[in-house]
Amino acid sequence: MPESGTRAGIIGMGSYVPERVLTNRELEAMVNTTDQWIVERSGIRERRIAAPGQATSDLALEAARKALEDAGIGPEEVDLIIVATNTPDSLLPAVACIVQDNLGTPRAGAFDLLAGCTGFIYSLSVAAQFVRVGMYRHVLVVGAETLSRILDWEDRNTCVLFGDGAGAAVVGPVPEGYGLIHTKLGSDGSGGPLLYIPAGGSRIPPSRETVEGRLHFVRMNGREVFRFAVRACGDGSLEALEEAGLSVDDVDFLVPHQANIRIIEAAARRLNLSMDRVLVNVDRYGNTSTASIPMALEEAVNQERIRDGDNIVMAGFGAGLTWAVAIMRWYNYRKKSG
Ligand code: ACO
Repeated sequence: MPESGTRAGIIGMGSYVPERVLTNRELEAMVNTTDQWIVERSGIRERRIAAPGQATSDLALEAARKALEDAGIGPEEVDLIIVATNTPDSLLPAVACIVQDNLGTPRAGAFDLLAGCTGFIYSLSVAAQFVRVGMYRHVLVVGAETLSRILDWEDRNTCVLFGDGAGAAVVGPVPEGYGLIHTKLGSDGSGGPLLYIPAGGSRIPPSRETVEGRLHFVRMNGREVFRFAVRACGDGSLEALEEAGLSVDDVDFLVPHQANIRIIEAAARRLNLSMDRVLVNVDRYGNTSTASIPMALEEAVNQERIRDGDNIVMAGFGAGLTWAVAIMRWYNYRKKSG
């Protein structure tokens, strides 16, 4: 159903990536791969890697601080913090609670949301509900990952694809006619084994054997995930547009999850959108999972590519399997408040 009640939208954004750049050339020395293979099959040229000792909450905090500054609000004005992540600092406590403490947000609730790479859109949707019903005014949503910590650096099928980073958004009330128009969330748990970490949880707790078997690292059936991703991104966006009473002609920008340029191009073709209306950063950061959509969006906002009133379709997919689409009419909070 299209959104009703108080309009909820993004009123501040920030992002952060670690300084360390890992190039394809460097990967050639680590696993049996080539720069050419990685570029041709994924579009990725380089990615960022967190420094030793730098955890997901550290990246999240940097992005969150920038987002609050961009929104022109202080930590005391944040009502709720949601961190979407697949790579928490530790199993307990939630990354959101660490961010709450370090940000100094005295009255904020805080929790993590686990929905694979789709986590940012899921979180955006949850945040918008709180604003819409009037329960909260400012919800901080962060997508943050240190995927480098859960990659098997001996597995060329996965280690070349991912990177570390964080993107944050403040969700709050926006004027009538702006903000989230519709969100659509989906899942198919039967696809869980296509992208998972075998051990370290309650099914197979950590042990010497699990560590020796490299069972704490990501495993992925790339080919199947690829097929699912193209469907989820392309068809999912079309379905969400139809439910919102909009057509492809109404779309100004597509912000797809940045997993692979071929998935992004296939989704754009499915929507009949030219690539100049599709935001891409996978070449520079690889797949940063929950951080990829807010990082790409913030970059375009900073470049003033996105203008007041533009219709933006964000499309995510990931482990679960999960997928989600958010359609938003952009409110240029920077211009309006400046
Ligand atoms: N360098 C060289 N060769 C490689 C590499 C590498 N880094 N990785 C795999 N190969 C080999 C494979 O072993 C395979 O060899 P084989 O045919 O001898 O078995 C060959 O390349 C081709 O493999 P394909 O699977 O056909 O390659 P494809 O064109 O499908 O590209 C890729 C592989 C990039 C993984 C692609 O399937 C993909 O992007 N899938 C989706 C991955 C994804 O998006 N995951 C995350 C989504 S959700 C989330 O973000 C958590």
